[in-house]
Amino acid sequence: MKRLTVPAIRRRKKDGVTVEPIVMLTAYTARQAQLLDAHCDLLLVGDSLGQVIYGLPSSVPVTLDMMAAHGAAVVRGSYHAVVIVDMPFGAYEQSPQQAFESAARLLKETGCAGVKLEGGAAMAETVAFLTARGIPVMGHVGLTPQAVNLLGGYNARGRSDAEADKIVADAKALDDAGAFAIVIEGVVEPIAIAATQAVACPTIGIGGSALCDGQVLVTEDMCGMFDRVPRFVKRYADLAGLISGAAGSYAAEVRARTFPGVEQTYQPK
Ligand code: KIV
Ligand code: NA
Repeated sequence: MKRLTVPAIRRRKKDGVTVEPIVMLTAYTARQAQLLDAHCDLLLVGDSLGQVIYGLPSSVPVTLDMMAAHGAAVVRGSYHAVVIVDMPFGAYEQSPQQAFESAARLLKETGCAGVKLEGGAAMAETVAFLTARGIPVMGHVGLTPQAVNLLGGYNARGRSDAEADKIVADAKALDDAGAFAIVIEGVVEPIAIAATQAVACPTIGIGGSALCDGQVLVTEDMCGMFDRVPRFVKRYADLAGLISGAAGSYAAEVRARTFPGVEQTYQPK
C-alpha cells in the first residue's frame, strides 16, 4: 500500500460533496501507529498527547520537542496514512515566520506530510504563508483547546448567533487561505453543518456532525482508556479494563509464585 497524500485527502470533497468520508485518529507512538495505519486515512499526532501521555492539565505546556519526538515515532510506525503533526501552543501564533520555522522543523525531523494549527481568521495569513512555501496546513476551529484560558473551559461552541457566525467565518477564512482540511471541534451540530457547507475543503468533525466530511477521535478516548470523556466520544473498546485486568492477574500470580511457569523459564538442557 502506497502512502496517501495531502492532495488525495483534499480531493475527498468535490463541488461541496463528500466523495468518501475521511477517517482520522490520533497516534502518539510507533506501535499505536502500526495498529491504526491500515484503518485510517490520516494519523494526527495531536497535542492532546500532553494530557493523554504526559498527564498535563491541558495542551498549553506541550513543546515542539515533544511533538517532534512523537511525530517521528508515528511516521516510523506507519506506511499508508497521511501523518499530520499538531503545532503546539506558542510555536506559531507570533508571526507567519515563526510558524514556518516551527512547521519546517516538524517536517524535517519527523517526515510528516503537514501540520495542524488552531485558530480561524487570525491564522489565515499564516496558513497562506506556509501553504505558499510548500507546507500543507490543516485548520482547527470551534472549541480550540489551546485557548482554554480564554474560553474558560471545554464547553461546546456556537450556541450564540455571534459565536456561530464567527465559527463559519473562521472556517471560510482558513479555506480561502488554502487549508487542505479543517477540524471542527465541539460545535453545535447545525453550525458544524453550516461551516462544512461554507467551505470547499473537507471538514473533519469531533463533536461536530456526521455530515462533516470526515471524523476524528482521540484513540485512547475511543478505546476506553479513560473514565471521564467528553460527550462526543464513543467508546469502541474497554482498554482500561483489559489493562488493569491483566495487571491484576499478573500481580496475583507473582504473589502466589505461579508466575513465571515452566514455559517462561530457561531450563538446563
Ligand atoms: O490534539 C488533538 O488530539 C486534536 C484532535 C482532537 C483534533 O487536535
Ligand atoms: Na490538538
